[in-house]
Amino acid sequence: MLDLGCAPGAWLQVAAEIVGPRGVVVGVDLQPVLHSFPDHVHHLVADIYEADPLALRGPSGRLFDVVLSDMAPNTIGHGDDLLSARLCARVLEVLPDLLAPGGNFTMKVLEGGEQPRLLRDTRALFATVKAYKPPASRDVSREIYIVGHGFAPTPAQVRSAPLDS
Ligand SMILES: C[S@@+](CC[C@H](N)C(=O)[O-])C[C@H]1O[C@@H](n2cnc3c(N)ncnc32)[C@H](O)[C@@H]1O
Repeated sequence: MLDLGCAPGAWLQVAAEIVGPRGVVVGVDLQPVLHSFPDHVHHLVADIYEADPLALRGPSGRLFDVVLSDMAPNTIGHGDDLLSARLCARVLEVLPDLLAPGGNFTMKVLEGGEQPRLLRDTRALFATVKAYKPPASRDVSREIYIVGHGFAPTPAQVRSAPLDS
């Protein structure tokens, strides 16, 4: 499982338990994760815009069955929905290098004018997609989660991935 925007590490803890020691969890964030985790959990300090997507696969170099993104801009205020949408667009761009065909996905987006386009772009990549606001998310929060099941990139979207060969 890949956890994009993993710091300070709450989701990473849950992911580590769900996946267990026979699997692999990789967390990626601009900030280091200070909490200590079991050996099957790896965290990388990286910027999703700058990093080579293949490097985000972590030590195994394999595609993930599940990709999560809780990334959010580090500023709150005017225009943060656009920054959130830009992060989400980047996630969709690198997804074919990270998520195995048939895999599942969720990413957080702050509601705004770009949300319909993000939903449309996500629908082009998955068998089923829905927008979901979990009960735990406060009513005043503008966050929603786009959830995709059954990753189905077109051959043109999958770039040759030497680490997976
Ligand atoms: C809401 S927090 C994530 C909380 C995390 N899911 C948890 O459970 O602890 C959003 C995270 O997105 C990260 N982030 C924002 N922009 C990023 C980028 N360009 N590349 C990687 N991480 C980024 C931030 O550093 C921040 O830690």
